[in-house]
Amino acid sequence: MAATFSVEAIVLNPSAPVNLHRQLYAQLRRLIENRALASGGALPSTRLLAKDLDIGRNSVIAAYDQLALEGYLRLRRGATPLVVDLPTRSQAPLQPRPSRSSHISARGKVLKAQRYHHGKPGSFALHPGMPDPDNFPFNTWSRLLARQARRARHDLFGAYHVTGHPPLREAIARYLSVSRGVNCTAEQIFITNGAQSAFDLLARLLLDPGDTVWMEEPGYYGASAAFAAAGARLSPLRVGETGWQLDPPPAAPRLIFVTPSCHHPLGVTMPMEQRLNLLRLAENWNAWIIEDDYDSEYRFQGQPIPALQGVDVSNRTVFVGTFAKILFPAMRLGFMVVPATISEGIVAALSTTGQHAPLLTQAALADFMNEGHFARHLRRMRRLYAARRQNFMTICEEHLGEWLRLQRTESGIQLVGHFQSAHDDKAVAAGAVAQGLNVSPLSIQYRHANPQHGLVMGFAAADEKTTKKAIQKLQHVFQNTKPQKRG
Ligand SMILES: Cc1ncc(COP(=O)(O)O)c(C=O)c1O
Repeated sequence: MAATFSVEAIVLNPSAPVNLHRQLYAQLRRLIENRALASGGALPSTRLLAKDLDIGRNSVIAAYDQLALEGYLRLRRGATPLVVDLPTRSQAPLQPRPSRSSHISARGKVLKAQRYHHGKPGSFALHPGMPDPDNFPFNTWSRLLARQARRARHDLFGAYHVTGHPPLREAIARYLSVSRGVNCTAEQIFITNGAQSAFDLLARLLLDPGDTVWMEEPGYYGASAAFAAAGARLSPLRVGETGWQLDPPPAAPRLIFVTPSCHHPLGVTMPMEQRLNLLRLAENWNAWIIEDDYDSEYRFQGQPIPALQGVDVSNRTVFVGTFAKILFPAMRLGFMVVPATISEGIVAALSTTGQHAPLLTQAALADFMNEGHFARHLRRMRRLYAARRQNFMTICEEHLGEWLRLQRTESGIQLVGHFQSAHDDKAVAAGAVAQGLNVSPLSIQYRHANPQHGLVMGFAAADEKTTKKAIQKLQHVFQNTKPQKRG
């Protein structure tokens, strides 16, 4: 049975780090919530309570005012403060019902079932797709960032540029026309939070539940997750060591996802004949194409291959790029080049999902590109990574040749080692991760039957000595992992 107020129920500690009025507020609130104070019961006047507790009246006024604001007390001028009659909180339901605390939507369940792989923080050796942290020009980057931060009160303060910082859109359009053979104007460039955000926005805008997406198999799990989460059905577009098998999957596609410059994860490049065949198929089905220009900049023989978008005359290719590999992944900046027909939809998708990217980082990146740092860094990294790749292949063959056959490719900052033994790649990868090696199993890039087993390994992020140690550790992982039935 709830009691009326007794001052003994309150114990204040003047030397505690919390103000007296916050202590009084918290204790009264607890008494009311626990029903230790009767609903509708009276509390003493502020003057009286201050006197009884031997504290300033202002502390009691502040505590009462806060309780009144939150709806625990009713205060009226000249009248006694009254405890509000609150509904009981955890009343047992009349009929037991399943708890809703873990209830998520059918769409949420599909989202939750998708695969992702971030790796353990701090361990860069062998991490697929990871650029080198020690060779990034952080001094230049921080100077540009600080300079823009000082100016941020002007056009970087309000979130006006949902589509991206205009100078960055221009810099990217120039870079893509010259270096990637992309046909575009700055108005077609939309800045995103990395490539993943572009996949999500495009899936929301272009796909209806039940639509078919032709997805590379093996293929980037991030992209397939975005399409599956939008309710699409994924039909495998098989890719092997000789390229894309374009005898079309049976179901008519609404969208086709490809990484033609450097296939993820195999690293092969789509020859022109296959590019033209793919465009013809897309035209026949009136399907969209997403060209993920993954790792195109790192080509170790010949020049980078111009984009598929540049030879598409039917305006159905959305070109997606990221700064995750040339700069660094946590920058979370990417972009898409979209046909003018869907620009308005992309603006709405960016705005309603809140996925527009931070302007300050974009402004620093525009300076980084316009002042020549981007091109310089890319040139340096191409040289460095070419040497690291060679070194990686040699050490890998020496220490892991018994278990792995390296896929021969000319591009990308990761390599696939196909298993020669009957090991399960998830078990080997889990053993490697436990040793601080963030390698990724190849089989998670397959969504259909008969996944190939292997490891996807990065070679760019660590110097030769660190790479050698990491590969020796991986050798021990193989030695200590029994071949087993594959899952
Ligand atoms: C094939 C592919 N596309 C795109 C990305 C980049 O995605 P994001 O820019 O969201 O980091 C990755 C990252 O690993 C990738 O492997």
